[in-house]
Amino acid sequence: MRILGINGSPHKSGNTFKLISEIFRGVRENNHQCEVVHLVDLHLDYCNWCGECWEATPGVCPIDDGFMEHLRQIFEADILIVATPSSTRSVTGYMKNWLDRFCNSQLVWEVNKEGQVTKSSRVPEGKQSIIIVQGCTDKLQETIEPINVVMDVLEIPVIERLVVAKVGLTEDDSVDKKPEVMQRALQIGRSLS
Ligand SMILES: Cc1cc2nc3c(=O)[nH]c(=O)nc-3n(C[C@H](O)[C@H](O)[C@H](O)COP(=O)(O)O)c2cc1C
Repeated sequence: MRILGINGSPHKSGNTFKLISEIFRGVRENNHQCEVVHLVDLHLDYCNWCGECWEATPGVCPIDDGFMEHLRQIFEADILIVATPSSTRSVTGYMKNWLDRFCNSQLVWEVNKEGQVTKSSRVPEGKQSIIIVQGCTDKLQETIEPINVVMDVLEIPVIERLVVAKVGLTEDDSVDKKPEVMQRALQIGRSLS
């Protein structure tokens, strides 16, 4: 099994990464493959709504910035860990941009003769997801919602949601100082089979 972690934090070794890593620790006990992508390294452009991925080249984004290579990685994974810190009570800009690029290119809209819109997903069947959201407040609902929406419309079932409130206010206030949180992350990793 392949697990791909998507880290939406600008900090490559911050709390988001620590939680992904702890899940990976559990996953590796069962000899599954793990890989993390730090969105800060991908330098993805914004979706400019050109519409090519809907009409001229279905599912293929024409922006030449490495997104299609990254999409292949996503398609090869069995489980996606979509992880972000809260920023201004939402996902980070890196994560929002990734959600836009992924969803806009892989969601299929069709309007039938009666004018009804039907939606389907180009994402290969059988993939599952885990969502991680954490922040220094306990108001994280708006942060998880954009990820919930994209997993829903792309038909990628969410098998776990790890929501960690009240961390990261100061340097000392990190997730690895919360044994119950790290234990939960480890358990999530161990449970994947
Ligand atoms: C610019 C900025 C904005 C933030 N906005 C929020 C917020 O709206 N809600 C919240 O709960 N935490 C917020 N935080 C706190 C981070 O989510 C928290 O520090 C988190 O642990 C950072 O994760 P990381 O170490 O993976 O980057 C903000 C932090 C920064 C630096």
